[in-house]
Formats: sequence, C-alpha cells, structure tokens
Amino acid sequence: MAHGHNPNEKVVYVGDSRIRKPGNRPAPPDYTAFPGKSEAFIPNFLLKEWMAGVVVLVGFLVLTIAEPAPLGYPADPLNGSFIPMPDWYFLFIYQLLKYPYTSENYVVLGTIGIPGIAFIGLLLAPFLDTGKERRFYRRPIASSLMIVSLIASFYLTWVSWDHYQEELEKNGVTPEHIEREEKNRESIEQGKGRWIPGKEKEVALVKADDPAFSLMQKAQCIACHGNELEGGGGPSLRGIGDKLSKDEIVDTITNGRANGAMPSFKGQLSEAEIDQIATWLSQQKAEAAE
Ligand code: HEC
Repeated sequence: MAHGHNPNEKVVYVGDSRIRKPGNRPAPPDYTAFPGKSEAFIPNFLLKEWMAGVVVLVGFLVLTIAEPAPLGYPADPLNGSFIPMPDWYFLFIYQLLKYPYTSENYVVLGTIGIPGIAFIGLLLAPFLDTGKERRFYRRPIASSLMIVSLIASFYLTWVSWDHYQEELEKNGVTPEHIEREEKNRESIEQGKGRWIPGKEKEVALVKADDPAFSLMQKAQCIACHGNELEGGGGPSLRGIGDKLSKDEIVDTITNGRANGAMPSFKGQLSEAEIDQIATWLSQQKAEAAE
C-alpha cells in the first residue's frame, strides 16, 4: 500500500532539501498588489515625470527669454588687457592648472590625470562602495572622499576668483559686463535709452576734409582705428572729443596706452603733428557731428 508504513521501504531523496537552491528569493509582488499605492511605470509614472519635466523646461525657457545671456564684445586680438576666464563652474579645474605639478611638464597630470582619477572614481563608486549602510557617518571612506573633494572644489574656485580680481585690479581692467552696465546706466541717465555696443560708430566725422585726417592716414592710425575712424582692431574715434580732452589725446598718441595695444608715436610724429591731430580729434563731438 502506498500510504502504509513499511519499515523496509527504501527512502530515496530527490535532491537535498538542506541545500538552498540559489536565487530562490520570493518574487516581488506586482504593482497591482497595492491598488492606489503604486502604479505602472509605463505609461503612468513616465507621463507624470514627463509633465514635471515640461514644467521645468518651460520655466527655463521663460527665464532665458526674460534675461538673455549677455553677449560679450566681439573678439579683439589687439586687446592685450583681456583676461580670459572660464565659466564659474570650471574655475576649480582652471585653478588646478596653475600649480607647478599640474602645469608645463606635468600638464597631462593636471588635464587628464587628476580629473580622470576623480571622474573614473565617481563612475566606479557604485561598484566599489557596495555597503548596505546609508548613513553618511557610517561610511567613513566614501564620506571623507566626498567632503575632501567638496572642500577642494570650493577652495580652488575661491582662489581662482580671488586671483582674477587681483589681476583686474593690477592691470586696471574693468570687465566687459561691468563696463557695459556702466555705459547703459550713463546712457539711460542721459535719456538716450539703453546703450548698444557699436552705436557710437554712427557719430559722423567732423570736418572730414581737415588735413589732420590725411596725417592720420599717413601715420597708419587708420589701420587700427578704421578707414573712417569707425573702429576696427582699435576703438572707434568718432565722437572721441566727448570722452577725452585734447591733452589726453596728445598723451595717448605720444605715449601710447600702458597695455601696448595702442603704440606710442613719439619720434614717428613731430610734436606739431601730434598737436594738429589731437586738436582735430578733440573736435570730434557727437553734437558737432549732427
Ligand atoms: C596698432 C594699432 C593702433 C594704431 C596704429 C593706432 N592706434 Fe590708437 N588705439 C589703439 C588701441 C588698441 C586703443 C585702445 C587702447 C586702450 O585699450 O586703452 C587705441 C586708443 C586710442 C585713443 C584713445 C581712444 C579711447 O577711446 O580712449 C586715441 C585718441 C587713439 N588711439 C589715437 C590714435 C592715433 C591718432 C593714431 C595714429 C597716430 C593711432 N591711434 C594709431 C590701436 C592703435
């Protein structure tokens, strides 16, 4: 009989119940097991995320339209006072390249080596840091690496910015966007509306047949300041009389400008010629041009 107890029956084990089959975890319940508490990933959850994403994107769009990114001045190879700077979020990497062991002969270390280690480390973090612990103070290695890199980024950004401010001050340079703001403010105060770069070029030349102008053409001033002094490599000289006095112009032509972008004409032009040019240039006023 199948169910009768037979002491002579040979017991045959099928498999061994004492050894757990690997991967025998209970299957997670389907989302339908939690009505009202969960939802399908596709399409419900995805659509909802999508809506949130659209709201954020439209928000960004509105902000960029309301406050357009400022355009810098046209690139000017003759502007020796320009201090190129990366965007603020790259300042720390920029600063890294200023140290002796990350520049010149070691520049590969500064450009690829250190940033590479940092980013590969970040990439591998999920595989290296597999602990179950989630509280940061129980994960000393990951936490201290994070804190050290945060402090380093903050410090490098700060030093870089500090250095930039120092350079500006040392060279007496006003950054473009501040110059633009100031010109805007002046222009609005004078009731002329917003200042538009290049608009000063529209001021006509006063007494364009003056012999001083041919002198300037001979002296090659026009190579930089434009055939009609409308500007080019150098600034426009239209309406320069509103900005500089005759003496200041004499000084500019005689000595050039400190940064070397405007050469000195001492020796190339006689004092009388410089005086003649400066007299004419100081008559270049917007009012007289109208
Ligand atoms: C090699 C190019 C070059 C030549 C040649 C040159 N300039 Fe200039 N000039 C410049 C630049 C660049 C500046 C702006 C300097 C600065 O940033 O302060 C300048 C500035 C000036 C300014 C002051 C403009 C301002 O808005 O402050 C005057 C005036 C001037 N130049 C007159 C002349 C005259 C006159 C000559 C010819 C005798 C001449 N320049 C030749 C490049 C030149």
